[in-house]
Amino acid sequence: MRYGRTPGDHCNAAESAVASRLGVRHVILTPSGRGGLFLLLQCLPSGRVCIPGYTCSAVAEAIALSDREITYLEHSRGSINLTTEDIAGRLQPGDIFVLTHQYGYATNVAQIVEAATQQGAIVIEDIAAAFAGACNGKPLGSFGLAAFGSFDTSKLIHVPMKGGFVATDDDALAATLRTRAKLVFHRMSVTHATRLVLLGCLLHLVTRPTLYWLFHAINFRLRGKTSAEDGILARKLNAFYSTEFAEWQAAIALPQLRRLDEIIHRRAEVHDILQAACASSTLFKSEPSPPEIAGTSVRLPIYAIADKMALYQSLVANGVDCGFSFTMLATPKSLSESWRIAGSVLNLPCYGSITPDELTRLAMTLESLEKQ
Ligand SMILES: Cc1ncc(COP(=O)(O)O)c(C=O)c1O
Repeated sequence: MRYGRTPGDHCNAAESAVASRLGVRHVILTPSGRGGLFLLLQCLPSGRVCIPGYTCSAVAEAIALSDREITYLEHSRGSINLTTEDIAGRLQPGDIFVLTHQYGYATNVAQIVEAATQQGAIVIEDIAAAFAGACNGKPLGSFGLAAFGSFDTSKLIHVPMKGGFVATDDDALAATLRTRAKLVFHRMSVTHATRLVLLGCLLHLVTRPTLYWLFHAINFRLRGKTSAEDGILARKLNAFYSTEFAEWQAAIALPQLRRLDEIIHRRAEVHDILQAACASSTLFKSEPSPPEIAGTSVRLPIYAIADKMALYQSLVANGVDCGFSFTMLATPKSLSESWRIAGSVLNLPCYGSITPDELTRLAMTLESLEKQ
């Protein structure tokens, strides 16, 4: 069936479109970003997996489910990404180093990859939030041996409720990944597909700023939570690790991939307006340099100067969807700098579907908070 569950022409075309954007030869669609990392770890030599202390807990989850040892690396510079100094002397031969371009921000990628490679580590890039970005003109995702990405609802390209991919230029690794994917991923059931479509429609509706307060009240406040993040890792494989990316999902991703430049352009406009609104804030700081390709960051990260949760509550009360910001990490508490970052970072929405009215309201909210 043209828009059925069995992968076909749409999946092939989506894989080619992602590969050509990343400048690599092989892309394999996966159920999620974490599912992509899980698949990669099934195909790479055994070894410790080293990850940033400040990152999505799903990354740690995929590694734990792969029965691998996790080493968390501390961020010494207080920013969302690791630097060359952070990995100096911390890696050893046989390590797999997950280089994350958090929220689409990336600097000195070639230098970090070189520093990791010199220590004998294999580099995998986490471009879950950095698809279509670049560093010094080279696409993110093309620096390491392989990369994994996400088509989660919060990302640049999204399908209900999640999807992802792995990418590599290495022919032998690609062949192993394809063989392994056939064993690990199973055809999506009709019930699961129906559930995903319904949830996708619902989420699209309730995350509009006008309804966001309702979504937040029902989903979080009534359940005594402040966000969906709890840092708790799944102990068993779930659909994000085992359900094959379906043809109907590729049919949703493909038009977005074809309009990618247009999507990025619109997001860049939104990003610029928000960045300007944030520039002179006394409540929070922003990243010093924007992503090289404006519009490729999934969110605009801000660092709260005082109480992050108080700022978060004020933004939510004004209908601002702060999305996820990894407030609860899977990282040991001894990595105090990573936890400090988690305790200050918030994210502003810079998705292209935001209407001019919604954007004006958001900029006004930021301004009014400043006066309070
Ligand atoms: C940096 C990073 N890595 C990995 C993931 C996991 O991706 P997924 O939710 O598609 O499994 C995310 C998701 O937000 C992420 O932001």
